[in-house]
Amino acid sequence: RSAPLVLGIETSCDETGFGIVRGTELLANAVASSMEEHVRFGGVIPEIAARAHLEEYIPTLQQALDTAGVTLEEIDAIAVTSGPGLAGALMVGVAGAKALALAADKPLFGLNHLVAHVGVGMLDGVAKSGTGPAAVVLGEGNLGGEESADRPSAPLPESLGALLVSGGHTEILQVNRLTTDVTLLGSTIDDAAGEAYDKVARLLGAGYPGGPVIDRLAQQGDPKAFRFPRGLSAPKFVGTSGEPGQHRHNWSFSGLKTAVARCVEQFEAAGIPEDQIPTADIAASFQEAVADVITSKAVRACTEHGITHLLLGGGVAANSRLRSLLAERCEAAGIGLTVPPVRLCTDNGAMVAALGAQLVADGVAPSGLDFAADPGQPV
Ligand code: KG4
Ligand code: ZN
Repeated sequence: RSAPLVLGIETSCDETGFGIVRGTELLANAVASSMEEHVRFGGVIPEIAARAHLEEYIPTLQQALDTAGVTLEEIDAIAVTSGPGLAGALMVGVAGAKALALAADKPLFGLNHLVAHVGVGMLDGVAKSGTGPAAVVLGEGNLGGEESADRPSAPLPESLGALLVSGGHTEILQVNRLTTDVTLLGSTIDDAAGEAYDKVARLLGAGYPGGPVIDRLAQQGDPKAFRFPRGLSAPKFVGTSGEPGQHRHNWSFSGLKTAVARCVEQFEAAGIPEDQIPTADIAASFQEAVADVITSKAVRACTEHGITHLLLGGGVAANSRLRSLLAERCEAAGIGLTVPPVRLCTDNGAMVAALGAQLVADGVAPSGLDFAADPGQPV
């Protein structure tokens, strides 16, 4: 029997994603984003995102089927993100998936969005190209056959860490076994990293979404110009008798955002004209603080939990400084690193399909047709 053909559906935020895999082989990854409709509001508007999913649902599904060259009838199982995410957005995805599963008589899996991000690591091109004792950072075309000869070809280890950084989440997971044993080691206690980028970009009048614009602006600035706070990284977050404290592996970005706001205010209070505020230096220093605190705490969590391989996911994985600093620090700590191509790091259906295929292969029972969308679903 050949590997299962699985359709994955993702609608937890602003991306409508339909992906198709055959086992660990990626056949299609169709994504429609409603981001352009949110730009003028400076943030994702839940109802607009949900309406966009409804409009893009069938065209994106059709695009995925066409790319993979398969019909819905040939699909062995359907997997859909059931949470966490925006309630209305998730409901469109889950309701549509149930309708497809019922009409085409296919087993349906409701899956956790965060675990699905890790599922990407199981795909052939990603797994083959990222493993090894030294950190390996992949560029874009790596799933397109541009494999370099020096890349080891062992699959991802079954046990690994996953660092997920996006506009909606910032977490570090310990994955002992993808389909049965995933635990949350730490997360942000306030803003997600991408959210901090968006807020700082607004403070600097740099536009939305903040990640790419700040990343670009930071290239012209001095990351040492300002010393912004690295939240929850102080030694006091170790318990009194040396045991890990409450916030050992958590992050906080609200203090950093406030520090950037104060910095801008000081220039304004000193009468510095707006066009002379050193926004590139501020952006670079902010980006350095984010990359520093994310990578130092992620590596520490790995070291303390015996994790020897780390997978990066989420839209902020596109960040140039985060990628370079994480590679540097993982290498120094002897931790292998896999950074999938950006289009598989941002929200997509292929990751949901990849996780679904693992569950089918492991013989896990499908979810049935009566599960709900769960906006706050834990790992
Ligand atoms: O995973 P994603 O597409 O959607 C979710 O938020 O779940 O991530 C989008 C986030 C946005 O906050 C965006 O600003 C951020 O990823 N982002 C970046 C970069 N490119 C996108 N953040 C920092 N540097 C970048 N180059
Ligand atoms: Zn995501």
